[in-house]
Amino acid sequence: MNIATAPMHPSIARIRALQPVHRLLKADRIAHMNGRYIGLTRDDDLAYSLDAMETSIAVSEIEKFSAPDKRRIVAVLGESGAGKTTALFEHINQRPAMLPYLDEDDNEFDPVLSILAPSPNTPLRFAMECIHGLQVPIRKKLDENEAWDVLRGALKARRIHWILVDEAQHAIDTANVIEITKIANAFKNLVQMPDWPVRLILAGVEPLGTFLTMKQLTNRHTVVHFEKMKDDVGLANVKHAAKTIITQHASLRSALPDDEEFISRLAHAADHDFGTATQIVRAATEKAIWNDDAVVSDEHFKEAYRHFSGCTPLENIFSVAHWKEITPRLAKLRAADLLWQKAHPRQREVFGL
Ligand SMILES: Nc1ncnc2c1ncn2[C@@H]1O[C@H](COP(=O)(O)OP(=O)(O)OP(=O)(O)O)[C@@H](O)[C@H]1O
Ligand SMILES: [Mg+2]
Repeated sequence: MNIATAPMHPSIARIRALQPVHRLLKADRIAHMNGRYIGLTRDDDLAYSLDAMETSIAVSEIEKFSAPDKRRIVAVLGESGAGKTTALFEHINQRPAMLPYLDEDDNEFDPVLSILAPSPNTPLRFAMECIHGLQVPIRKKLDENEAWDVLRGALKARRIHWILVDEAQHAIDTANVIEITKIANAFKNLVQMPDWPVRLILAGVEPLGTFLTMKQLTNRHTVVHFEKMKDDVGLANVKHAAKTIITQHASLRSALPDDEEFISRLAHAADHDFGTATQIVRAATEKAIWNDDAVVSDEHFKEAYRHFSGCTPLENIFSVAHWKEITPRLAKLRAADLLWQKAHPRQREVFGL
């Protein structure tokens, strides 16, 4: 995970130079707002699990051949838009042990390899994805065993101690039973390498949780759930996010209705996923910034949500009385879509409609 600040690419600098200054100033304010992180109590659980994982590496010389241990795999589970990827990058960037460093000979090492799980996945494709991520030159087609040998050697040579596998559900969602077992064994062997401690950080949606119940993995992982923002605590988190983004990250004033209903509408519009809720708040705040408004109101939310979701005015969760009956992810559909769905009942099932 390279976090070094690279100089601006000439192509980007060119486009930047062509922007009117007033536009650029606002765009920078918006980018600054979008880059901020909001910590929740779930971050404490994640930090605890990553602490345990870090110390398990620190003592690995002593515990080398110890029994399976729960600290070898940390999985962050939650629906799309929950905030898993953002949280993991934030936490990794806050941890000195996980950041790139220079050794005594000025060689740069980055102890975290970050990949997207290939889809469809096989143990060979997974190993190759890691090998490509490490930029190991490969001159011939490798078979599965050769690829894993190359990978194991490269992990040690490159001093990789963590592999962050995002969208980890791809590891299994299209695999058959034999492949799933092989992938579980591959993950197990990866975190049990006798001569080099490697830990896995997995982020994903279902069926990742089900995969982790497999015997090979069950004693080797801990899970942090990124739950839906549905109960009182969840709604309080959404409220906190709205206030923080508007007043602290964007330095504007908030004139949002102070009732529970507004926050419930916001949570509902986000399908109760925290990350999606922050995106809606940011979209509304962005409207205010572009309009030179100093105060963010529910009007900005109505307008932003219309753009964000593609909904019609009669289906806008921030304005209509029947908002609870609207399914946010379907907001963009129009009559022609519904006709198509009617004519294609089997495809309809694939989309979960
Ligand atoms: N704690 C947070 N503070 C501020 N913004 C956040 C936070 N969590 C998520 N977000 C924002 O929410 C959006 C969605 O989050 P993210 O992509 O991390 O979700 P995800 O769970 O990884 O979803 P997916 O499964 O689709 O990959 C991002 O734009 C991110 O900036
Ligand atoms: Mg993600």
